[in-house]
Amino acid sequence: MRETKMTIDKAYKVSQVDPRIFGSFIEHLGRAVYGGIYQPGHPCADRDGFRQDVLELVRELHVPVVRYPGGNYVSNFFWEDSVGPVHERRPRLDLAWRSLEPNTFGLGEFVKWAEKAGSDVMMAVNLGTRGTKDACNLLEYCNHPSGTRYSDLRRKHGAEEPYHIKLWCLGNEMDGEWQLGHKNMQEYGRISEETAKAMKLMDPSIELVSCGSSFMGMPTFPQWEAATLDCNYDYVDYISLHQYYGNEAQDSADFLALSDDMEEFIHTVVSVCDFVKAKKRSKKRIHLSFDEWNVWYHSKDEEMDITKNHPWQVGPRLLEDHYNFEDALVVGLMLITLLKHADRVKIACLAQLVNVIAPIMTDAEGGVWRQTIFYPFLHASAYGRGAVIETILDTPLHETSGHGAVTDVVSVAVYQEEKEELTVFAVNRNLEEDQHMSMDLRSFEGYEILEKIELVSEDLKAENSLYEEKVAPVRDAAARMDGQIAEVVLKKASWNVIRFGKGK
Ligand code: AHR
Repeated sequence: MRETKMTIDKAYKVSQVDPRIFGSFIEHLGRAVYGGIYQPGHPCADRDGFRQDVLELVRELHVPVVRYPGGNYVSNFFWEDSVGPVHERRPRLDLAWRSLEPNTFGLGEFVKWAEKAGSDVMMAVNLGTRGTKDACNLLEYCNHPSGTRYSDLRRKHGAEEPYHIKLWCLGNEMDGEWQLGHKNMQEYGRISEETAKAMKLMDPSIELVSCGSSFMGMPTFPQWEAATLDCNYDYVDYISLHQYYGNEAQDSADFLALSDDMEEFIHTVVSVCDFVKAKKRSKKRIHLSFDEWNVWYHSKDEEMDITKNHPWQVGPRLLEDHYNFEDALVVGLMLITLLKHADRVKIACLAQLVNVIAPIMTDAEGGVWRQTIFYPFLHASAYGRGAVIETILDTPLHETSGHGAVTDVVSVAVYQEEKEELTVFAVNRNLEEDQHMSMDLRSFEGYEILEKIELVSEDLKAENSLYEEKVAPVRDAAARMDGQIAEVVLKKASWNVIRFGKGK
């Protein structure tokens, strides 16, 4: 067995975790909305047509904020189509996903759904095929109390009170040539600056997210971040990061090493933000909104086939990745990476939430089920709120094909002071050997192990389904504490949650 040592001292606080790091995303894409969160006539649907079985699982995940309505979809979104009496709404061709958008579920419905889910809305404006004027109209519709054209329109539509949406994305992935209304960095810098300026004049209480690169491998990364922030720095609060990983090469050890790239991505964006801050002699600090992250690759062929050969369907089966056990480990690793950077990453959205590259899946006639990736997210959201503690980790290395030597164990510790609880999240990404980990909790006097939860499987490719849950967390009773030293075993290829609390 290999040996890892960890020292945790509560004096070394990195930052409080912003709960919005456990956000998620619903896009008008595939069966996320139609047949996902919304399915009138389904036995579990409430009078609004919202599936209660789905809502229950969303609530289980405690998602504080949900990004909406896209994604690529937003770059040709006409919000006016999605409001008002449903029988007067007209369908529209969604060019991003070559689907038919019936508009029977729209902005007002989403606000209502989010309220039932216990989440805030993170709204995106269309800076692809539209611009500043329409973004302002939408903001006026959502947040202005009354007495103007669009606020009164909202009231006419039955919402007397404003929606008070605080968080807004200035477009989506505007650097990507696949994006409708794709822009170069100068164009996006200017339109985002002017739109942000106007939106903040209308409602100074809102927070704005500027589009960063679509992923770290974009040819214009990180110049895009530097050039666009150079324009809009004074008006925006966050810059977005998006990243999806896949195991196309069927090289699991290297797949699990990809969280090191995510770490590098965050470091670089932080550096660029601070470079622009220094250049502008600004006192303001830009934070990071990692508002799309996940594993995404299993469903790419189907996506190509449906969008190319079977377009203009309502709710087609797009991006329905069926996740396996190793995907859950990567999601766990990505969560640990986000938490480790809680001082700068204030918002993150697991993309997405239901049916579309999602932890929650629905069956058209039947029930709902939890994908493998549901569990690390569930644990992090439940126990990862508090202060991140900088730990000293001494762990062996193993070789990978694309990342060279990487650490066996990746972990983070979160201290919930008021509850007197400490949680350590750890992935053993060594696929061959178990790991004995001793943890020195020198400053946590009187703490005991409350529980150790683990996600393990002999089969890295094991998947869950409506009928069988092959990957589910179990309790590991073998964890021991001797004085202030905890002794645990992290099985090869495992996600672990070790919870400590003050004894009686
Ligand atoms: O989440 C799926 C898609 O991934 C989003 O629409 C887009 O923003 C990204 O490329």
